[in-house]
Order: sequence, then C-alpha cells, then structure tokens
Amino acid sequence: MAVIGIESSAHTFGVGIVENGKVLSNSKAMFKISDRGIIPMEVADHHAENAGKVIADAIDAAGISAGDLEAVGYTKGPGIGPCLRAGQLAGKAVSSSYGIPLFPVNHGIAHIEIAKGMGKMGDPLVVYVSGGNSQILAMERKPFSHYHVYGETFDIGVGNMLDSFARAAKLNPAWGSTVEKEARGGRYIGMPYTVKGMDFAFSGLLTNAVKALGTNRRKDVAFSLQETAFSMICEAAERALLLTGKKEMLACGGVAQSSRLGEMLESVAGSHGIRFYRAPNEFNADNGAMIAMVAEKMLDSGMRREAPTIDQKFRIDRAEIGWEG
Ligand code: FE2
Repeated sequence: MAVIGIESSAHTFGVGIVENGKVLSNSKAMFKISDRGIIPMEVADHHAENAGKVIADAIDAAGISAGDLEAVGYTKGPGIGPCLRAGQLAGKAVSSSYGIPLFPVNHGIAHIEIAKGMGKMGDPLVVYVSGGNSQILAMERKPFSHYHVYGETFDIGVGNMLDSFARAAKLNPAWGSTVEKEARGGRYIGMPYTVKGMDFAFSGLLTNAVKALGTNRRKDVAFSLQETAFSMICEAAERALLLTGKKEMLACGGVAQSSRLGEMLESVAGSHGIRFYRAPNEFNADNGAMIAMVAEKMLDSGMRREAPTIDQKFRIDRAEIGWEG
C-alpha cells in the first residue's frame, strides 16, 4: 500500500508517492517566477490548473493504481495562503475520491524527515534553510516530541534574501543558485554581519548588497553577500552544536542545494568530528515525496487525525512528531 503527498506551499506543485519509506515517484509542476516575484493568486491558479495532471503523473510513474493508495498528505503550512489552499483542495479531492484518510503535514518537518531518512541520521542538529525559513533545530521530547528552535532569522529567510538580490542584480533566472554561479571567482568586499547568539538577520545585508551593486562588480557583490550570509548560518549552527552536543548535522530545505553552503557546514561538522549530510537536490527543493513520507509516518504511528485546515504561519515547533513517541 502506498501513500501520496501533495506539496503546494510556494511556487512548486509537487506530488510524490512513497511506500514503506521508499520514494516511488516524485512529480512536479513549477510556476515560472517573473521579475515581479511571486504573485500569490497567479501561483494558486497555476497549482489548481496543474493538480490533476501532476497527481496522474505521480501515480503513473510509481507504477501503481489509484486503488493502491492508503492515505494522502498535504502541506498544512507554513506557506502562501492561496497556494496552500490549492493543495488542501487537491488533498481533499483525492481523500474523498478514494475513501482514504487525509493528513495535514508541516512543511519544515517534511524537509527534515526526508533528508534525515536518506542520510540515515538518528538525532541530528538540523540547519533548515529555504526561501521563507532559516532555522537551527534539534529534537526535544518534552512537553511533547517536537523540533526545538535554537536559532532563526529575525526577518527574512536566506533563500528569499538571495532571490531578492538576484532580481535586483538582474540575474536570470533570479534564483539563489544563479547568485552562487555569479559568485564564483568574486573578491570579498565588506558586508554587515548580524548574528545574535544563535539567531541571525538578513535584511540589512540585502539592503547593503543591493546598494553596493551601484559601485562594485556584480560578481564581487554576489560573492560577498553569499559568503557573509552562509558564514552567519555556520556560526549560529556551530554554537548550537556546542550547546546541544549533537553528534550529527543535517542541512535541508531549498538553500541546502547550495554546494558552497554544504561545503562550509561540512567543514564546521568536520572540525567537531561529527557526520554531516545533505540530501540530493531533488529532495531539498520543495517536493511531494517529503509530504508523503511524513503522512506515511503519521498513518503508521496511529497519530490522532486532525481537521484538514491550512495555517500560513504553522510554526515547526508546534508540530507534534508522534512517530518519535
Ligand atoms: Fe520548502
């Protein structure tokens, strides 16, 4: 029996199918972001238009029939309201069409769980870095099993910061990965660096970098912005590592696709003699398989079913990890 998961929190409408923790398929349709950025209603329309096709693709690619599905998960939040609603409606439709239970899933937990499973990690320090989220986390059992937030961004997520810079610098496509390409061979120029304990902030850095584009080579600004932002994350992660004493470190989320960030975090982990892992890019980008993975754990552990709502600000530390006891 298989479990299907639907991810729709931002520009990706992803549908994945898993069985016993193994990914059978992972299909997606991505909204193409223009220089206006993400317009919520346009992205939600894209998701609604593509839902039927991506669900059918995922079932086909998994080599199963819809009757083999045992449960369906969808992203409850956090994310962009209208986009979350498109996924919730698709989840409800699958649930009622096939008479299977529907599980609301926290997006961040899904990023962590799929990477943790692939890396065969037990209890890592987690560096969760994406468009809207940037947090340093570790599992805590009391008062209920959840991820405790040791540090996080005071303002914007590192991914949104890199995307905003890419748009201002007229990079095409305007993604963080394009900033990484542009940064190769750049020289360092001074940038504001903001770490407070295990928290950090990116908006001052972004403002400074955009201003610096007027008087410096784009390559140098991209390099300096990236090195500064990633160093801030590394400093916070290292402090959390020392505080928690964890023996493994995991990076996940869209920005964990960055090979430069991976290299820097690996060097932090290496200097403390602990193992570091980041999943293949397909599973760090937003995807449906990660939602299916958590829905399967919720089903198998008999977690109490909750109302199929959405919550744009669904904090990761409010999500119960029932399968961890
Ligand atoms: Fe994400």
